[in-house]
Amino acid sequence: MTNDTPSPDRVMRLINGYWATGVLAAASTHSLFTHLEHGAGTAAELADRAGISERGAQTLLDGLVSVGLVEVHESRYRNTPEASTYLVEDTPVSLARFARLKLRHMAALTDLAEVVRVGGPVSNPVVEVANNPHWEEIVKAIAAQSVPAAAIAAEQLALAEAGELSILDVGGGSGIYSAIWLETNPAARSTQLDWEPINAIARRLLDERGVGDRFTTVNGDLHTADFGTATYDIAVYSHIAHQEGPEDNVEVFTRLRKALKPGGALVVCDYVVDDDRSGPAFPLIFASEMLLKSKRGNTWRRADYRDWLGKAGFEDVSFHRAPPATVTIAR
Ligand SMILES: C[S@@+](CC[C@H](N)C(=O)[O-])C[C@H]1O[C@@H](n2cnc3c(N)ncnc32)[C@H](O)[C@@H]1O
Repeated sequence: MTNDTPSPDRVMRLINGYWATGVLAAASTHSLFTHLEHGAGTAAELADRAGISERGAQTLLDGLVSVGLVEVHESRYRNTPEASTYLVEDTPVSLARFARLKLRHMAALTDLAEVVRVGGPVSNPVVEVANNPHWEEIVKAIAAQSVPAAAIAAEQLALAEAGELSILDVGGGSGIYSAIWLETNPAARSTQLDWEPINAIARRLLDERGVGDRFTTVNGDLHTADFGTATYDIAVYSHIAHQEGPEDNVEVFTRLRKALKPGGALVVCDYVVDDDRSGPAFPLIFASEMLLKSKRGNTWRRADYRDWLGKAGFEDVSFHRAPPATVTIAR
């Protein structure tokens, strides 16, 4: 060991990274970030408001200080700006539900070494299973991640001023794109294609938001559904490309090009990696999730999207960061 020997701290933190997942999920389960936001500042106050033990509250606070989501000043705790923005419940961008979901996904990681050896799912393929109940769990938990992406795309496409528009959302999940875009443009109408139980979830959201009268759902498989011809001004394909292989994506993009009117735009939102696969960090590590859950999925490069969209007949492709995702707009 010399003075130049690196500290083991970071490696230790990474080896024990599951502690962060556990602490974050437990804190979200007991609404700790929400109670902190509303003025609780000590373990005793949090224990009282959350109905948990004071020892448990202190342990969670220590863990949250450790991972940098909570700060302590003069014996009182408070959320960092990140926790305040993304972990307090019942806000449009809240990731609290997602934090709880991820703890339940953790056991699947014990398969990863074997999955890596064989090159795909060993026990529990997820995305190729029609109507998989997995989606019902996931779509509401991930909706918050699509809020900034939908806003960025709306701005790029000047949706608010676009007048009458027809939108197709393939694999629309919670219906969050339709909800935001129909609120932004009162003359727009939207159709979502997804599995039946998921469309029922989206229907509830759109009705709650008061825009359900301009929303239609189609139940079915995106691989075989007829998207129509020159029917839509805008199509969206968000967080689907990563579950599909290259040929599948070219095939879907080609059908989407045909479904769009001349001059129409396709919005693809996904975790996109740089062409040399040197970053960004989240999309790179998300590739493991796709190896575990899909036969051909991956996090794809900008060059892949350019290539596939070109093959599908799109001429103009632009990329817009919506961290940790990227919004690709093709015309
Ligand atoms: C990761 S979620 C993305 C949801 C939404 N687009 C978003 O970005 O928030 C994937 C969605 O695609 C749907 N899906 C996956 N495979 C499908 C298939 N073969 N046919 C129809 N829908 C599918 C799932 O039901 C789920 O709603």
